[in-house]
Amino acid sequence: MHGSRYLEMARQDYPRHGPGTCSYSCTCDPAAQRIQHSSSDSWGPALGHIWVQHLRKLHLEPDSTLVEIGPGFSAKIGFGLAELGFCGALFLVEPNGSARRWAQREYQRLLPAAQVRTSHRAVSDADLPTEGPVDAIIANHVLDDLLMSYFISAPENDRIFGHMRPGVGCPEKFSEIWREILGASRVLHELVDRVVEDVVHYIDVVQSDRLILNEYLSWHHRCCGLGRIHRVSLWTLGRLKQRLMATGQFSTQLFWDSTEAMQWLVAERLTMDSDNFSSKIIGSRCRRRSLRIASREIQLWHRTRAEHALS
Ligand SMILES: C[S@@+](CC[C@H](N)C(=O)[O-])C[C@H]1O[C@@H](n2cnc3c(N)ncnc32)[C@H](O)[C@@H]1O
Repeated sequence: MHGSRYLEMARQDYPRHGPGTCSYSCTCDPAAQRIQHSSSDSWGPALGHIWVQHLRKLHLEPDSTLVEIGPGFSAKIGFGLAELGFCGALFLVEPNGSARRWAQREYQRLLPAAQVRTSHRAVSDADLPTEGPVDAIIANHVLDDLLMSYFISAPENDRIFGHMRPGVGCPEKFSEIWREILGASRVLHELVDRVVEDVVHYIDVVQSDRLILNEYLSWHHRCCGLGRIHRVSLWTLGRLKQRLMATGQFSTQLFWDSTEAMQWLVAERLTMDSDNFSSKIIGSRCRRRSLRIASREIQLWHRTRAEHALS
């Protein structure tokens, strides 16, 4: 069945929580229920079906080696891999302990022939225990989560992401944090810089041949009046494309899928030659400089917040 047909089903399934309310315990615009992606049970398989179409277009073999960043309590890509008959190795990079255990169980159930392993190390740790080259790093709607994770402390990360289970309301703290981020444009710029640099570095460390990411207007964010997060994610995606192109090592495509109302970034590694080698060195020098600036700004921001809380 075509992806948009699945999406239609997913939209029709909604609402489950009564008119005008959503699972994020906020009143929401009924029009949002029609327009954007829903929180219904069929949304995961629907999105999985969209994913598998992209993976097939990229000729990804069922026995390949993949790394998924931040599955959370969601097996959206897992549904797609099940359709592909995936029987390769899959690393789930998930710092949150409860989400990691949930995801491993669910992915292994969906992909009985695959080897599903996990890593607790965040993207910023740039470490993954793979035993060979990786065919693709994949992630569904994760850039906003990476941005937020850099802004808050480790215990806050644990609390917030540990709550994000299907059908469970989003903590008020989540909206509070995002309002703070969105209201501080300098910090926002620094967070975007840091995510871009970390993802580029991660691809290098993991030696992945591809990066496949998507972004869409989250129904939950829209419900909570946080639709602007989507604009920030799209901006980050665009910056990531530019940064990858600047390394001279990737061919990149950023495209809008109007049927599914989704933006996709697909980057594929070019064969290495001497020219690319020099741009790699230049790239890592730029990375070190912008990371230094970003972490200084974020530390300053944390200090100001702490002082503000004390006063
Ligand atoms: C809320 S989930 C949602 C994304 C999920 N892929 C989906 O489509 O629903 C995001 C996950 O990203 C994880 N995460 C946050 N920061 C991360 C980081 N720096 N590196 C890897 N994962 C991270 C969180 O622990 C969380 O479980």
